[in-house]
Amino acid sequence: MPVIRFVREGRDVECYPGENLRDVALREGISLYGLKGQLGNCGGCGQCITCFVDVPDGASPGALSTRTAVEENKLRRRPNTWRLACQALVQDSLVVLTRPQMGLADAEARIAAAQAGGLPSGPTAWPAQELNEDEPEPDQELDDRAATPGDEA
Ligand code: FES
Repeated sequence: MPVIRFVREGRDVECYPGENLRDVALREGISLYGLKGQLGNCGGCGQCITCFVDVPDGASPGALSTRTAVEENKLRRRPNTWRLACQALVQDSLVVLTRPQMGLADAEARIAAAQAGGLPSGPTAWPAQELNEDEPEPDQELDDRAATPGDEA
């Protein structure tokens, strides 16, 4: 299943192939809108032009459906990597920067980090947490306890 890696939020979200990017983001509580969009958006009809996302170059070409006629019209003066989330269907894993019009101080570095190592095809914790090799992983610790009868007391 595709994974959407939301750079600004530092989250990976899994979805079904063909799901609408806006629908997935809203379901997961990820904010797509600046102030104007929060005050009044078109609900996904492609009319308000407030659900911008940036899908950086080189990140999974073909991961989204092709630009719709609405996007070709409404995004004429925007960067080529921008999409309207309400018009885009997710087909494969990809990296997404929400609200690109608001800027992000270290956007390039964060996007590069998000793209490094490729994208997962299933859910992961991201940014990856480094584990201390001396400490057991939480699941391993539980398994060890379960394997030692009589230690529960
Ligand atoms: S929600 Fe209005 S254009 Fe996408």
